Amino acid sequence: MVSYQELGLVNSKALFQKAVQGGYAIPAYNFNNMEQLQAIIQACVETKSPVIIQVSSGARKYANQTLLRYMAEGAVAYAKELGFGIPIVLHLDHGDTFELCKSCIDTGFSSVMIDGSHLSYDENVAVTKKVVEYAHAHDVTVEGELGVLAGVEDEVSAEHHTYTRPEEVEDFVGKTGVDSLAISIGTSHGAFKFKPGTDPKIRLDILAEIEKKIPGFPIVLHGSSSVPQDIVAIINKFGGKMDAAIGIPEEQLRAASKSAVCKINIDSDGRLAMTAAIRKVFAEKPAEFDPRKYLGPARDALKELYKHKNTNVLGSAGKA
Ligand code: G3H
Ligand code: 13P
Ligand code: ZN
Repeated sequence: MVSYQELGLVNSKALFQKAVQGGYAIPAYNFNNMEQLQAIIQACVETKSPVIIQVSSGARKYANQTLLRYMAEGAVAYAKELGFGIPIVLHLDHGDTFELCKSCIDTGFSSVMIDGSHLSYDENVAVTKKVVEYAHAHDVTVEGELGVLAGVEDEVSAEHHTYTRPEEVEDFVGKTGVDSLAISIGTSHGAFKFKPGTDPKIRLDILAEIEKKIPGFPIVLHGSSSVPQDIVAIINKFGGKMDAAIGIPEEQLRAASKSAVCKINIDSDGRLAMTAAIRKVFAEKPAEFDPRKYLGPARDALKELYKHKNTNVLGSAGKA
């Protein structure tokens, strides 16, 4: 049993309170390897932003949960070495069982998501409440989810959004004791969020209804990549095939983060930035075979992307 406090990490409680009051959102960036973690920490140190580094089930399979948690511990020291100790939350993204959440809490995660959104309402309440009871006994914060995002989420996929029902949120939050709530208002995972020719809009009206029911309660948006078209163009220019990739317009995320939305999850945009940089190196320097020569530029591109997000989209720059 290792506590996150021993690792120098923080939970999300105070960060969310400040973010809701200050009208900005904390970035929640996924990581699977060293270069992604370096880019996240460098960007957040340079912009003086708090950060949530999150581990998905795909990341646990790819890299190993224990190794990722040691990397997170290293990230605390790394940030200080870069010159500014930022608050770092280590979060389990889309936890699907009590046992998984418990194993993360027992090994030093400071925050967990229990995603019961695919279950019936009562089952979702039951499993979320069980996780909250265990987590709170260890001062770990818990994110629950109500409503189903369209698209692919690890092995689970849904063809259509089931928007969060504002009339359920107060009951869910009250019964479970969660610290934050992920909602479904038209965002979705991956790089193909809207059909070409349709209006890429999220339902800020449903967000406003939810906020009326639970004023000031921390809200989380998943599936919030914007799929920058300049990055998609580089991928396509250098041999990729990503036509019709469309994300959430940045202005809409900026508007949402001024409300009680205090955590915004971004993964796909980082994947795109790395892919574009690597494709460019491979196309322009076909004789290159040192991984540092393509992973280095990928890391730099990722860092620039995250600095932009913190500064211009989430508003978290300068809030550490
Ligand atoms: O929720 C989705 C995240 O982008 C993580 O995806 O399980 O493929 O790492 P992943
Ligand atoms: P994107 O696929 O839009 O980056 O969403 C990531 C996410 O929600 C991780 O939980
Ligand atoms: Zn997600």
